[in-house]
Amino acid sequence: MTRIYTLVNQKGGVGKTTTAINLAAYLAQLGQSVLVVDLDPQANATSSLGVDKRTVQAGTYEALISGEVLHSSILFNERLKLSLLPSSPSLAGAEVELVDELGREFRLKTALESLDHKYDYILIDCPPSLGLLTVNGLVAARNGVLVPVQCEYLALEGLGQLTQTIGRVQSLLFPDLKVRGVILTMYDARTTLAHDVVKEVSNHFPGLVFKSIVPRSIRLAEAPSYGLPISAYAPASVGAAAYEALAKELLKGDGVK
Ligand SMILES: Nc1ncnc2c1ncn2[C@@H]1O[C@H](COP(=O)(O)OP(=O)(O)O)[C@@H](O)[C@H]1O
Ligand SMILES: [Mg+2]
Repeated sequence: MTRIYTLVNQKGGVGKTTTAINLAAYLAQLGQSVLVVDLDPQANATSSLGVDKRTVQAGTYEALISGEVLHSSILFNERLKLSLLPSSPSLAGAEVELVDELGREFRLKTALESLDHKYDYILIDCPPSLGLLTVNGLVAARNGVLVPVQCEYLALEGLGQLTQTIGRVQSLLFPDLKVRGVILTMYDARTTLAHDVVKEVSNHFPGLVFKSIVPRSIRLAEAPSYGLPISAYAPASVGAAAYEALAKELLKGDGVK
């Protein structure tokens, strides 16, 4: 069965999108068949993979509205061997349009079920909010959520609210929802603050923090403007090494390799 993980954290700028596309790229490079689902109306994952959101004919929006994924809406990148269900500006309207619909929280889960067995991994990139789109992402997270946390002052701030939302989804919608892991991002080894944050987050999520920590790296920030993941833009960079290590750690933990 396809492993489905959702990248979630209602804080913006913590590395959800960067992690979604670069982790996906390395999983694909390591031989997995991978689909990235862009669940953010801002479409950063879509553009980071070189797709202009204005040209998107069908994508996540249509999947949410219809409850199925149109085969033609999946864009396959030959070079990266990576599939994308793109976002488009119309996705911004989905929260409002779905609000009165029956089973509104299950739309993405149902849609992705139609793809079962087509992929080894599906990674869902959430918007920076805890609204209906993110709830759809949580309900669809069959194998758990991946929480990127930026190594900065007050890193844990807001995670209480996220934990609460996860708890509510567990009790009302998806009892088996779990946190698969916490990914530390934008780590700057030169600062003592970063060391403290690693300790603090590890204490807060015992056993759940990935050993592969993503350093702050200018190459990671540059890559999206070329429409490329770090594996294609700067494969020899420290950021690339970190995401490759993260992909291997995830595969190992999943018992795949
Ligand atoms: N490890 C990193 N080093 C340097 N810049 C990063 C790193 N991770 C992300 N960024 C940059 O920080 C910004 C926010 O990251 P992003 O992945 O878009 O966060 P989110 O999806 O959580 O809003 C982006 O401009 C991205 O390129
Ligand atoms: Mg994002």
